[in-house]
Amino acid sequence: MTDLAVDEEPSGRFGVVIVGAGSGTRLGGVDKAFMLLGRRALIGHSVDAFESVNEVDEIVLVVGAHRVADARRLVSARHWRKVVAVVAGGVTRQESVIAGISALGECEWIAIHDAARPLVTGEIIRSGLASARSHGAAVAAIPVRDTIKRRLGETALIEGTVDRTGLWAAQTPQVFRASVLSEAYQRVGDRASEYTDDAGIVEASGFPVAIFPGSIGNLKVTLQDDLAFATALLRARGTGRVSRARELACPSLRVGTGYDIHRLDVGRTFILGGVVIPHATGFVGHSDGDVLAHAIIDALLGAAGLGDIGTHFPPQDEAFRGANSMELLRRAVQLAAAKNLSPHQVDATVICENPRLAKHIPEMRRIVASCLGIEFEAVNIKAKTNEGLDAVGEGRAVAVHALVTLRS
Ligand code: CTP
Ligand code: MG
Repeated sequence: MTDLAVDEEPSGRFGVVIVGAGSGTRLGGVDKAFMLLGRRALIGHSVDAFESVNEVDEIVLVVGAHRVADARRLVSARHWRKVVAVVAGGVTRQESVIAGISALGECEWIAIHDAARPLVTGEIIRSGLASARSHGAAVAAIPVRDTIKRRLGETALIEGTVDRTGLWAAQTPQVFRASVLSEAYQRVGDRASEYTDDAGIVEASGFPVAIFPGSIGNLKVTLQDDLAFATALLRARGTGRVSRARELACPSLRVGTGYDIHRLDVGRTFILGGVVIPHATGFVGHSDGDVLAHAIIDALLGAAGLGDIGTHFPPQDEAFRGANSMELLRRAVQLAAAKNLSPHQVDATVICENPRLAKHIPEMRRIVASCLGIEFEAVNIKAKTNEGLDAVGEGRAVAVHALVTLRS
């Protein structure tokens, strides 16, 4: 074995690849990285942990090709300053890792971390870097504590008990000297996908790999039960306990409702939630007429105790003629921020006879979530017809009811 060991240099850029491009098959085929754990997407917990470690210089996020735009919005909404790239992953985990490494800048140290381990801590990350600096490569792991049995084929019987002495369960992060990792990946070539972790590839290439202490709390969300454990652990952590107490007492959640209705006419643009939808008629209004945005603004201002849309953006004010309502929504968020309140969740019902909105709703949710700086999953939009009744049912107007919660 080559001993690349001891690095005396205290510095050298430290890059991190967080892989979250899997298909969550064992959880029923969900975008695991974007599932909510507490208030944040799974991947967001890991990013927050790495962002807050001083030694980390840059982070690359690897997500499914269809979630790249969502992840980029999340990066700007959450003000993650160390994230230098968001790239699409591959069919296998190792392809995703390679895509992530390729997007990193010049780094001397690289950590690979699974988005599926949201409870990683700053302490684990720092130990990983320190251990990699001493040994060239290091893996978070915990000693196997259960007695391990080997089953006899597919029968109900046990073939024997495995000696667990010296057995450790590997986790992520796994931290490597960049040159070791790239050399190892080159050596295994096409066989990379035969390995279930990066350390396996580095070991197979003959490089020494050390173990540093992971934690039982640094669990991997693989099955439904894991999500329940992760939620409980999150609550048991300091911040979790506070949020639980807050949830129970609800002193910091504020709720506002909003309603708006706009007439439709020919020669106007039909725009809802920032999405322009081709239609024979469009909205009459002083601004761009985005009735969904207006209902959400009213709900948001309501929750903040800041009056209504007309108070802040008067219809008679020429400055708001043809205004982009999403820009007004951003301004409303700033008004709430001045009172130390930030968006938490949105639910809205659009009552619209025509056109059909279903296929446009994901894009509306993305745009609204991005304006509000919250996750896609925290924005819900529903569409209903009015069964042909009244002006809305006759297609002469569209109405929206919205509910927004804010937290301090
Ligand atoms: N991963 C990835 N690209 C892949 C496969 C997996 O980035 N092609 C990531 C996952 O998103 C996850 C980590 O590798 O963060 C560990 O994988 P695992 O827990 O197996 O997640 P999934 O592959 O999504 O789940 P499953 O195996 O149940 O489909
Ligand atoms: Mg998998």
